[in-house]
Order: sequence, then C-alpha cells, then structure tokens
Amino acid sequence: MEKRCYITTPIYYVNAAPHIGHAYTTIVADVLNRFYKLMGYETFFLTGTDEHGDKIVQAAAQEGMEPKEYVDRISQLFRDLWPKLNISNDYFIRTTDPEHKKVVQYILQKVYDAGDIYFGNYKGYYCVGCERFYTPRELVDGKCPDHDTEPVIREEENYFFRMSKYQDWLINYIETHPDFIRPERYKNEILAFLREPLEDLCISRPKDRLNWGITLPFDENYVTYVWFDALINYVSALGYPDGPLFSTFWPYAQHLIAKDILKPHGIYWPTMIKAAGFEPYRHLNVHGYWKIEEGKMSKSRGTVVRPLDLVDIYGLDAFRYFLLREMVFGLDANFSEDALVQRLNSDLANDLGNLFSRSLAMVVKYFKGNIPPRSDSFDEKDNALSQQVETTKETYRTEIPQLRFHKALASVWELINHTNKYIDQTAPWVLAKDPKKKARLETVLHNVLAANKVVAVLIAPFMPDTAGKMMEKLGYSKEPLELRLDDDATWELTPGTQVTKAKALFPRVEVKKEKPKKEVAEKTVEEKDYITIDEFSKIDLRVGLIKEAENIPGSKKLVKLKVDVGEERTVVAGIAKNYSADELVGRQVILVCNLKPVKLMNVKSEGMILAAHDGGDLALVVPDRKLKVGAKVS
Ligand code: MSP
Repeated sequence: MEKRCYITTPIYYVNAAPHIGHAYTTIVADVLNRFYKLMGYETFFLTGTDEHGDKIVQAAAQEGMEPKEYVDRISQLFRDLWPKLNISNDYFIRTTDPEHKKVVQYILQKVYDAGDIYFGNYKGYYCVGCERFYTPRELVDGKCPDHDTEPVIREEENYFFRMSKYQDWLINYIETHPDFIRPERYKNEILAFLREPLEDLCISRPKDRLNWGITLPFDENYVTYVWFDALINYVSALGYPDGPLFSTFWPYAQHLIAKDILKPHGIYWPTMIKAAGFEPYRHLNVHGYWKIEEGKMSKSRGTVVRPLDLVDIYGLDAFRYFLLREMVFGLDANFSEDALVQRLNSDLANDLGNLFSRSLAMVVKYFKGNIPPRSDSFDEKDNALSQQVETTKETYRTEIPQLRFHKALASVWELINHTNKYIDQTAPWVLAKDPKKKARLETVLHNVLAANKVVAVLIAPFMPDTAGKMMEKLGYSKEPLELRLDDDATWELTPGTQVTKAKALFPRVEVKKEKPKKEVAEKTVEEKDYITIDEFSKIDLRVGLIKEAENIPGSKKLVKLKVDVGEERTVVAGIAKNYSADELVGRQVILVCNLKPVKLMNVKSEGMILAAHDGGDLALVVPDRKLKVGAKVS
C-alpha cells in the first residue's frame, strides 16, 4: 500500500454562515491532513459547499436574492473563513461548478443505463426542512426527528435509484470491513437500520417544483435530488472517472462527518458507488455534536457560536486545541467559553507556556543561549524522561489514526508535565552553582530542550502557529509541515545551535470576578446576534391591504400581489403553495416597506410581506383586527 491519504469534510450548505460545528469538522480534517504529512504521506484534503436544493432557494428568497447570487456570497464566507483557521485544504469544491455537474450527470447516466434507475410514483411523508421523504418508522410521534414538525403528504412521479438491490451487499461489506464506519456505535446504527428492508431512493425533483439543481441527463423535466448530487463531490473533485487524482487518492479516502448525516454517507453513498462500479471509500469517520448549554445550537435562542468571535478573543491555536482536546470523537460535547478559558489558562499558559519559557530562559542564562551537548551519562531521571518521550510518540502515532485526538493530546501533556517535574527534580539552578556539575547541567538542559522539541513537533498538526514559533525559538527554521516523524533528524538537537528567549506563548486570560462567569461567556458569544431598538426601528413595517393577487407563470411558489399601504406596491411573495390567489385578495397583511426592491421571475418586488413558517407549514402574520391601511407596526 502506498502512503497516501485523502481526507474530506462534508460540503456545507450555504443557507447559513459557518459556525463552530462546521469549524470543528474542518479543523479535525486539517489535523489529520497535517498528521499524515508529518508521517510522510502524500495527502489530498477537500472541503467545499453544497449549493442546490429547496433549502437554498428558500434561504435566497428570504434574502431577496437570486439563488446564484446568494450561493456565491455564502460560499465565499466559508472559503474566506478557512485560511483564518489555518485550514490546509488542497481544493474547495462547489456543487455549482460545471465540472461537478458533468460528473453527476455522467454517474446518473451510467447507473440509468445499467438499469438501476427507474421511473415511478411515490407518495409519502415529506419534510420540507430536510428535503426528503420519511418512512413512518423514522418519524417520532408522527414528526420529523430533526425539525420536530409534522411532515406533509406528497405524491409525485419521480426517478428512483434501486438502492434496495444493494442491501445485502452493503451489510456484507460492512461486516467484512470492520473499520469502514467508525467509531463502532455508528457502524452498529447503520447495521441496525439495515435489518429492516431498504427502500429505493427517490433521486429526482420535478422542475416545476424545484429547478435549482442539476438536470437529469435522461429527462430534462427533472433535477437531481440534492443528496445524490452532493455526495458525488467526493469523486468529482478528483476528476472521476479518468483524472489522475482519482486513481491516486480515491483508494485512500476517509470521510469526516457528524452523526446528523450518517445515513446518506453510510447507506446512500456506498450503494451509489457500488452501482456506479467503483470501490467504496476506506473510512467513514463520524463524530458527535457540539451542544450549547446542553441543547442544540439555535439562532433564535442566540446560541450560535461563531468561530472567529472566539479566535479574536482567545487566539486561533487555543481554539483549535480546545476543540480537539475537549471532544471525544464520536460523542457529543458541551461547548462553554468557561471550559475554553480553563484549558487555555491551565494546559496552555501554565503547563506548556511555562515549560517553554523556563527552559529557554535557563539555556540563555547558563549557556548564553547555546544548546549544550549531552556530555554526562544518563541517570535514572534522564532515562525516565526518555522513556516518556518514546511512550508519548508511540501513543500519538497510534491514537491519531484511530481519531482519538484527546488521547494523543493527553499523552503530549504527560510529556510536558513530566518535563516540568524533571526540571524541578534536577534543579538546574542548583547545578549551576557548582562548576563540578557542569556536565550534568549540560545534559539536563539538553534533555529539557529535546523534550521541548518533541512537544513542538507533536503539537504541529493541532497548533501549527505555536509549533512554528517554538521551532524558531529553538533555532530551527523548518516549517512544521516539512518535518517527518519517521526521520531521526526531526528529534535531534544540534549542540551550539542558538536559542532565544520567548515571550509567553499563551498569555493567561483573566476571568473577571465581579461578573458571574456565565454572563461573560454568553455576552461574547451572543453579542452579534442582538440588534438595538434603533436598528429595529429602521425597518418600516406597515399594514397593507391586498388588492390583487395572481400566480406567476413558471413558479409554483411565487405569487404577484398589489398591496395598498397608502400607496400601491407590487410585491412578489413565496406563499403560492400555502395560499391560493383568490383567498389572498382583501386580506390585511404586514409589509416591510423599505426593503431594497429586487427582481424575482422578472417582476420587480417592492417590499416583503411577513409570514411565519415552522419548516412544514407557513402562515401570514396579520393584525388581529382591521386597521387603517398604512398604519405603522412597531
Ligand atoms: N450539505 C450537507 C452535507 C453534504 S456532504 C456530501 C450538510 N451540510 S451542513 O452544512 O448541514 O453541515 C453538516 C455538518 O456540519 C455536520 O455533519 C458536521 O460536520 C457539521 N456540524 C454542524 N453542526 C454541528 C454541531 N453542532 N456539532 C458538530 N458538528 C456539526 O449536511
């Protein structure tokens, strides 16, 4: 087997700006990528954005934008974020890329020609939020388990992928490849699911319902279901079927996802691959969810955590370290800013920061900054420290490929703590007073610096900037990514090399005593989600009366309204599925009057009427008794 590795993140939906969950998966992928580079592997690291489907169209409409303009904007937010988090991806894919579309159509045609796609009728429970049909068994109390909303009954003629045909093959594949889906709990979840008969997968959407997608190559009245489109990114990015990157990297593919998208990756994707006729990925690595205050992150509760807010306050490496140290891969973890501060002050500022600055300070003081040679023979304490170095390296090399990042880091911290203890026990400041102990002092400080170098190298995948700073202070100019764990030269210290004193690697963060900790934490996280009363009053909301309503040809969703708000406004609203044109005329509604006009389906829309939706249903927001047209809402 070649030493190669292909690492992917999910391609993120562009219906919202990136948050800590997206950052976590992408940082994990980055750590793995950097680790494998350190191990001398040739790697390819992919991330990107998922840009088709209902959800995106809805999000664009809410912003009053055309889908293309909207996806360009949000995709760019992701693309701009990653360099700020030191993400070392080789490629950024978008499902709106023409090359990707071609590959999706190629695979569809291939599977269709092989007889694994057929046309049929489907009636079932459909969750608009998830953009998929649910089987009754999957619903919880009759509701979508993700959105807690009642699905709608939908009937449609569509194309289906014969997924059921591959059920036995998939069960057998998972059983004969025990680390195909890991950790084990997720493999078991998929196997439990496969104990029931697998249904075929509806893989198309009629264009009159949704036209923002990739047209089926064998029927231009349909677009591809967003998951069948999105999963293919993992191979289209490599130039499937003939690209050299595909043959080089696909056999070494490892996907990283969270548990929310286990089923598409654990069932749809391998069966799609099988039908298309190539080998499945190597590993599906599934992690748990970051929760805030023990609950799901939620915009309305103001608990969405934005990565850059934290990076601005605590620094990038502290943020990366915290995420990887705190979460046990596979299980949920609770995010709290207090816990981050705690780790920063204790693990980073105290343990690592102190070790590094006291080590350098002693070499500067006793040897003018020249790394001393190991001139004395080893005693018990020296041997124990060397032993710890070897144990840590070994643990690190075995735990990271198993995704037990917290264990790898804990082992590095054992080495840090051991080295701090070694300094206390050998007391170089006492040795320095006795000229006869010079050889001992040299050996002790050599060992101390050697341990620091090991720490610098091993933290490189997690904290690349800190590792780089440490290497520089230790007198080595190599970039962390150029080092190799299997090269002895990586660990060697050359006596005589000049080291310099360092400023604190991680300044401590003071936790303000006068305020309860929780309040401090919440404020920084939520501040950006509040608006002031002044900001709110900028929105000119008025009572309007619908005078005319007509459906817009070519759109199932949009209706054109004439609304009287003291003057007549033309408004395009996405409510045609919930209200007929006739029942709208004569109703009072609330109109946002000072929204910048936009063109929707070639009609200029001069405002937006307010409606509430819960993922499944939608209802107009109206005054509860008749008011004068044009009345202000405040
Ligand atoms: N577009 C699909 C993925 C298609 S992949 C072919 C999608 N996008 S998403 O934007 O919703 O991203 C989901 C992923 O974001 C999760 O699988 C996980 O990687 C990350 N996370 C989102 N919220 C998260 C948490 N609260 N905690 C941890 N990771 C989470 O699904």
